[in-house]
Amino acid sequence: MSQVHICEVGPRDGLQNAKHMMPTAAKKAWIGALAAAGLEEIEVGSFVPPKLIPAMADTAEVVRHSLKIQNLKVVALAPNVKGFQRAVEAGAHKVTFPVSASRKHSESNVRMTPEQMVEEVRKCAQLGGAEIEGAVSTAFGCTMQGAVPEDDVVKIAVSLAQFCDAVALADTVGYANPLQVKRIFSRVKKEIGDKLEGAHFHNTRGLGLANALAAYEVGVRNFDSSMGGLGGCPFAPGASGNVITEDLVFMFESMGLSTGIDLEKLFAARKILVEAIPEEPVYGHTPLACLP
Ligand code: COA
Ligand code: ZN
Repeated sequence: MSQVHICEVGPRDGLQNAKHMMPTAAKKAWIGALAAAGLEEIEVGSFVPPKLIPAMADTAEVVRHSLKIQNLKVVALAPNVKGFQRAVEAGAHKVTFPVSASRKHSESNVRMTPEQMVEEVRKCAQLGGAEIEGAVSTAFGCTMQGAVPEDDVVKIAVSLAQFCDAVALADTVGYANPLQVKRIFSRVKKEIGDKLEGAHFHNTRGLGLANALAAYEVGVRNFDSSMGGLGGCPFAPGASGNVITEDLVFMFESMGLSTGIDLEKLFAARKILVEAIPEEPVYGHTPLACLP
């Protein structure tokens, strides 16, 4: 059993914001290589209107392909009941919903208020058919609204915990700092206990790893990250890439904490990503420096 569980979100969070489209065949090869490196959970795409995010138009096919990979938990994002139904129909094991604590981001991202979005997720939970994660987005601040009251974050997390299998906190625009991470995760944990599972950090201001470590120190063991630091929400101005999978794995492994992920194989998966969309900038210190 790994001591730290990492969910790779590059095929969703990464490619939704990439300037270059990755062909479906390359997505399948990349996901296969990520799984071969030891990633046991991958967010492979999102079920949103293809007109809105053309890069996600092939998600059903990518999910169906990913289901053939042994021991892989196949995750997809959905913004509403229709997306959830499409995800269940394709066979996704788990569906993640973005529920913004910032009103402005919620309206820009899903055209619903946070309260309406909570009700949308509740309807999906009642329908059933897949594991459900409610991700509280912009939980540490928002480029459109500015400060996001911590009470709002706690309130949404408590509502989601009533019917979601798990709740995550997301720093959608990279505003979080380690002390804030410790404070907010601890507050939410006090309210919802083990329902609080995941941490989703963006590396916009270079604090992704520091924030992940801070979350680890207050008991978080499930992390989202993106290969090459791709990522960002197209409906949150100023959002850029996620915490970098390669560096996150290196950090935990060098601390003696097992992730179940083989770094050399992870670099091989990165090669597939870079070859598929060579013009897209990728980040990460560990792949450039190589292993000690
Ligand atoms: N998948 C595919 N099509 C969908 C859909 C889904 N999940 N949800 C709605 N649609 C279709 C509707 O059927 C309708 O089609 P029509 O014009 O042919 O009748 C059209 O899209 C508009 O539907 P509506 O319910 O009015 O949606 P909207 O325009 O108010 O948009 C969301 C709401 C939630 C669908 C949209 O804001 C969204 O997808 N947001 C997610 C954005 C995102 O991916 N952000 C990054 C990840 S956090
Ligand atoms: Zn994100």
